[in-house]
Amino acid sequence: MAFNGRRPSNSLWEPTPVSTQKRTDKLKLGAFFHPTGNHVASWLYPESQIDAGTNFAHYVEMAQIAERGKFDLMFLADAVATRDGNLEALSRWPQYMNFLDPLTLLAGLTAVTKHLGLVATATTSYNEPYQIARRLASFDHMTGGRAGWNVVTSANTSEAYNFGRDEHYAHGERYDRAEEFVEVVKGLWDSYDDGAFVRDRSSGRYFKPDALHFLHHQGENFKVRGPLHIERSPQGYPVLAQASASAVGTELAGRIAEIVFTPLHSLAQGQQIYQQLKDLAVKNGRQPDDIKIMPGLNAIVGRTEEEAKEKHFRLQSLIHSAVGRELLQNALRGMDLSPYGDDEPFPEDVVAKLLADDRRRYEPIVAGRPTIRQMYEKFAGARGQRTLVGSPTQVADDIEHWFVNHAVDGFLIQPAYTPGGLDDFVTLVVPELQHRGLFRTEYEGRTLRENLGLRRPPSRYAR
Ligand SMILES: Cc1cc2nc3c(=O)[nH]c(=O)nc-3n(C[C@H](O)[C@H](O)[C@H](O)COP(=O)(O)O)c2cc1C
Repeated sequence: MAFNGRRPSNSLWEPTPVSTQKRTDKLKLGAFFHPTGNHVASWLYPESQIDAGTNFAHYVEMAQIAERGKFDLMFLADAVATRDGNLEALSRWPQYMNFLDPLTLLAGLTAVTKHLGLVATATTSYNEPYQIARRLASFDHMTGGRAGWNVVTSANTSEAYNFGRDEHYAHGERYDRAEEFVEVVKGLWDSYDDGAFVRDRSSGRYFKPDALHFLHHQGENFKVRGPLHIERSPQGYPVLAQASASAVGTELAGRIAEIVFTPLHSLAQGQQIYQQLKDLAVKNGRQPDDIKIMPGLNAIVGRTEEEAKEKHFRLQSLIHSAVGRELLQNALRGMDLSPYGDDEPFPEDVVAKLLADDRRRYEPIVAGRPTIRQMYEKFAGARGQRTLVGSPTQVADDIEHWFVNHAVDGFLIQPAYTPGGLDDFVTLVVPELQHRGLFRTEYEGRTLRENLGLRRPPSRYAR
């Protein structure tokens, strides 16, 4: 089959009116964390697991907390390189400098969880479709249908240097490759029809010969004959997640993503993007319910508002200036911050230039004309996602407000520090959400798809 990659248009869409219908579905929840926590200074926080990156027992505990909270899924990010940059700053900020391979780690968690969806990140820029199709299909079998794949194109240039390249693929090229990559992987997942393996001792037939399909894919980036040597997995395809923010990435999400983790910063922006993604799914022949919008939520919860604020203040006070500046510099695409002191306001002409360049990306960072310190403090804690600091009722109120007003289908809870930050959410906020009838008290289904309310895709040969 030849690949017919569709080039996305450069523009986003016209806004569509927000739905006012009463919701009958339930909120979805996922856990997403960097080893010691989402906050950039979490490893310095006395209650965090300091060696979390390579500590398997820590991940077992995190998965079990998430499952106790009836979370839909736990999701692990990935990069296939350390971060490059100012070593003085990196040595004070362990994220992506020392951590376990997500799929290997999640495979280990299969045995200690029963219901939790396990979502691994794998890049389409530095992998081959056959290997990813094989690993994820294996993982879906091993989990009994709880596997997910966060499709990324790799944001870090440093990843290119480990895969025979001197530079990263250009943005559009990455997304063309991603689209073809996913198409091939799905094709390989359909190599055997459902029920192909009859394993019939009486006839001496192990599988039906006409239920095996060769893909014969030949496209711009990949040539893959197939078939994949593994039977169709419990979910048909593991659940596909994506976190793009650009126009081209969002269009791809409309075509392939079943969960979107894109950051959302205000209710109005959330409602607009939520509706746009649902419309895009429909434009691509899918149903609005086939795509679940679950942005990150950096929730810092205390038994009281004061306790939550105190935790947040303690974490913020631990941010080293070198780390804050490095992080900000990365968020501002390598902009040189050295001419500005920590307590100087960001120059107005630079703010205007950033907003003209990419309003959606930079507005949450530069709004209110903060100083460099205020900007990095705001950014370092949230890592680009929305921060919410409050009591269980306050946090539940906010979640409910976004959910009932059709800005999200759920949230990826990003604990500021681990394991305590996730434990706080599960112990304090989940019962409140359950009490309000917003969130499940028991898992509804067997598979991640069933729990998320996603259909099992039929094989392309059965369609
Ligand atoms: C919650 C979340 C998780 C992400 N996880 C990863 C990751 O693990 N690896 C990665 O390379 N990129 C990751 N990204 C980056 C996105 O895949 C994407 O590249 C980024 O949002 C920029 O969008 P764009 O690619 O459309 O320009 C993540 C983004 C978000 C919001």
